[in-house]
Amino acid sequence: MASQKFKDISPYKRTIGTPPEDYLYSKYQKDLAAQATTSTNVINVAIFGIGRAGTIHLTSLARNPRVKILYIVDDIVEKHKKLQDYWSLHDTKFLTSKQSDVIYSDPKLNAVVVASPTFTHEHIVKSALNAKKAVFCEKPIAEEREVCIELYKLAKKVGKPLLTAFNRRFDPSYANLRDRVHKGEVGHVQTIKVCSRDSPLPTIDYLKCSGGIFHDCCVHDIDMLCWVLGEFPIKVSSTAYAHVEEIKAIDDFDTVSVTLLYPSGTIGMIDLSRNSCYGYDQRLEAFGPRGMIRADNEQPIHCVDSQVGLNGIKTAPIWYSFPSRYRLAYQNEMEHFLDLVEGKVTEPFVKGHENLAVNKIASAAEESARTGKFVELTWTKEDFEI
Ligand SMILES: NC(=O)c1ccc[n+]([C@@H]2O[C@H](COP(=O)([O-])OP(=O)(O)OC[C@H]3O[C@@H](n4cnc5c(N)ncnc54)[C@H](O)[C@@H]3O)[C@@H](O)[C@H]2O)c1
Repeated sequence: MASQKFKDISPYKRTIGTPPEDYLYSKYQKDLAAQATTSTNVINVAIFGIGRAGTIHLTSLARNPRVKILYIVDDIVEKHKKLQDYWSLHDTKFLTSKQSDVIYSDPKLNAVVVASPTFTHEHIVKSALNAKKAVFCEKPIAEEREVCIELYKLAKKVGKPLLTAFNRRFDPSYANLRDRVHKGEVGHVQTIKVCSRDSPLPTIDYLKCSGGIFHDCCVHDIDMLCWVLGEFPIKVSSTAYAHVEEIKAIDDFDTVSVTLLYPSGTIGMIDLSRNSCYGYDQRLEAFGPRGMIRADNEQPIHCVDSQVGLNGIKTAPIWYSFPSRYRLAYQNEMEHFLDLVEGKVTEPFVKGHENLAVNKIASAAEESARTGKFVELTWTKEDFEI
């Protein structure tokens, strides 16, 4: 009888509600209600490049009730029919890049999604903005910093959004960590660490035109640290090595450590690898005088095995690679872009100056790795104007 006094009223008379952490159930409730919260106009989209990144974005767009895919551009013509059949895209026009000018002159088209190789971005982004289309472009929007600045200025001039999404910002666990750091739950952050080990090892062909590990991979880690902390570092030091001969031969690295000192005294640390044999190892940890918050690796299967022989406890492996680990983050970033296109939100979640700052820090980290010296960073008003 010890607990009888705690007997509650009928559960039918109590409302607990959906916990905010269950973002999937919240989305389900939205689908269940089938109430359009924005305009009912369909957003007409063109996608450039259906490779590793483009397939992720196509997945977010093909079944999206807000979207109609008017065009898909990819230079591998054999992909066209396969994609059309697989996704039932019978009203979509499939083109090669040489035929893509028709896209920019189509008044029905609202937005362009760019997931073609990096060297093609500048031309596509410029053409789309000049044609007054909203643009979502995989990082980086161009190879040269000056060109990136020009493109952001052009977007401002034509009044259209230009979004380069750092997908990890849209991950529920990382966003939760950031919110709680901003609420002061660990106090003034003393150290913040990212562990980011890629899987599987990308092909050498991809690596040759990737821009190098600092600009291809490390930018995501740098963005995480700066985004959580809300400040940019003043000193960067980095050490890098290529254990894989083929990567050494193209003058790139596969293993990198970066240490960053922030103006408030926080020390950032990045532990980065191109080749993790046990899955896509992604962890983020903020430590301060009031505690520690860590976003851990996630697993597809949550079974735990204890079997004969006392071999300890076994669990399933972590997610294998970025399309699975960050599947929700990619969907969320695309929803954010569609909100921008519809004018439902006016400010891109990833701002131009943040993207430029992250690239400046990545260049400083690469310089440190190549020279063996600390690199000091200074920030002026111009760095925050775009
Ligand atoms: N944010 C992320 O998580 C992430 C992950 C992977 C790649 N990326 C970025 O996405 C971009 C593409 O990388 P990927 O790994 O998907 O490359 P990929 O080689 O797998 O795919 C590129 C596709 O673009 C097509 N293509 C080539 N030239 C084209 C053109 N002019 N117009 C249209 N299509 C063209 C190719 O035929 C291919 O199908 C890169 O800029 C890369 O940095 C971002």
